Amino acid sequence: MCGIVGYVGRKQAAPVLIDGLYRLEYRGYDSVGIAVMDGKQIEIVRKVGRVKEIEPARGTFGCIGIGHTRWATHGGVTEQNAHPHRHKNIVLVHNGIVENAFSLREECSAKGESFCSETDSEVIAHLIADAYRGDLLKAVFEACRRLVGSYALAVLCTDEPDTIVCARMKSPLIVGRAKEGLVVASDIPAVAEEGAQLYSLSDGEFCVLKGEELTFFDTTLGEIEKDAIDFDLSDDLPDRKGYHHYMRKEIDEIPKVLSLSQAKITENSCFSSFYRVLCQTEYIQIVACGTAYHSGLCAKEAIERICRIPVDVFVASEYRYCDPIIPKGTLLIAVSQSGETADTLAAVRLAKERGAYIAAVTNVTYSSLTRLARTVLYTRAGREIAVAATKSFNAQLITLYSVCCALAEIRGKTAPPVGGLAAMAESTIVTGEQVRSWTPHFVGASSAYFIGRGADRYAAMEGSLKLKEISYLPSEGYAAGELKHGTLALIEKGTPVVAVITRRDIAEKTMSAVHEAYARGASVFLVTCFEEFCRSPEIVSSVVIPECPPEYSPILSVIPLQMLAYYVSVACGHDPDKPRNLAKSVTVE
Ligand code: F6R
Repeated sequence: MCGIVGYVGRKQAAPVLIDGLYRLEYRGYDSVGIAVMDGKQIEIVRKVGRVKEIEPARGTFGCIGIGHTRWATHGGVTEQNAHPHRHKNIVLVHNGIVENAFSLREECSAKGESFCSETDSEVIAHLIADAYRGDLLKAVFEACRRLVGSYALAVLCTDEPDTIVCARMKSPLIVGRAKEGLVVASDIPAVAEEGAQLYSLSDGEFCVLKGEELTFFDTTLGEIEKDAIDFDLSDDLPDRKGYHHYMRKEIDEIPKVLSLSQAKITENSCFSSFYRVLCQTEYIQIVACGTAYHSGLCAKEAIERICRIPVDVFVASEYRYCDPIIPKGTLLIAVSQSGETADTLAAVRLAKERGAYIAAVTNVTYSSLTRLARTVLYTRAGREIAVAATKSFNAQLITLYSVCCALAEIRGKTAPPVGGLAAMAESTIVTGEQVRSWTPHFVGASSAYFIGRGADRYAAMEGSLKLKEISYLPSEGYAAGELKHGTLALIEKGTPVVAVITRRDIAEKTMSAVHEAYARGASVFLVTCFEEFCRSPEIVSSVVIPECPPEYSPILSVIPLQMLAYYVSVACGHDPDKPRNLAKSVTVE
């Protein structure tokens, strides 16, 4: 949530900041701003809307500056609430949440200070300005000691015209040396370029970007050295490669992602020691949010059915508040594309405190989650730009199914091999294109329903989440058998219902729910492995997908549902890559 960027060097700062912000827009895009210093003064340009709104500021003069793209938390979407925020000689951008902002604001107000915005971030500028005695680093350090919550900060001061001070606590922050200057940003793409040396700050660390020097400090302001991180330019520089939207491109990447993820998982240097942990594992907890939560549910289905090991899956934002029972020897798997989701990180910290072994399934090598976990299983989805997760979901599934196969081997059970799923995904994408013809039934509908049984219900839940987040159509993903216990009341003439049927032994049972929905006027669509059901006169249209082991079927059945959400969003005239109110990386609790 929110992206920050900063630059000091030989080039003009404004174009560097604006280009960087475009690459961070996935983190938030309700308002935007930059501050550029020309040696004496700081000029601030802020606008409501996306980065393109500040294009006219490209010509702002000055070789040092900071920028911000916002996802509103404290205070509405207004120009006053947009960053950068200024108090006296201090100008800053902030990503995170100051949990004690209210009391700090009251304290400043009692001293007669007034505020220009409703944000929690502005109070940080007040604290730094109040602490400033000619040393910006010390002032930032003093201010950070007062903050409760999370922050990634980049701070300018008119009295130190060649310096940016940065600080990090629970919000990601990358700093580095580029060809013609020093850079800071929330994420690699904003600053990646050939030959750049990039470093990831850890919680509590500070960094000073001054002239041509980058200096790191630990939690007590002791100077430290850091190792540069690896990054892959081909992955880190976003490119739509001719597609209208990243989301559609990312769906097409699923087969490649599956073969890569599957090939890499057991090569992972951690895997052999993780295998020893799996040998002792009697109980697994999975924590995750949103789409990643759905991949956890799919994993539960596979692991319990194949390995007979109990698995509980928790929505991460609830985990801390249910006082979870974590028996000795619990393996906790945190699933997170970004590795930065605040709720997931909080759940992991609690489980760690209570003695669970932490494994992470994540797509981002340098993320906060990787630092907390003892084993990290990287998904090889490559950078996912569209806010709605697609290929990362499939990558999480193949990784978790591979864990399932290892557990089965240890337990002397037979798990179907995961090889072959990539090729099946390829043909699923081809047949999945048929969903395009379904869109008129969804555009203008007042709600939509996705149903299935067993693993199919988790694919249904994920299909529903995709549809609602990018087309804004109210939608529910449901266990097919539950429909008649309440939700059926919402079905009326023309209500679109998508049934997912991939398990032969319970196919007829799901078809019963189809009959019930059809009898109330629903327009029923089908995603199935079994052609005979497509011939039923009750079905408006269907997509036939390859038959894979039913425990793994969501990895395929979700693909037409992802495509459906995409085409409905486009048909509604929305931008599927940047759904309203959402952001890719949710770094606030
Ligand atoms: C939905 C979506 C979100 C994320 C959720 C968790 O398309 O993308 O529901 O899945 O915010 O994010 P990560 O996986 O980064 O922890």
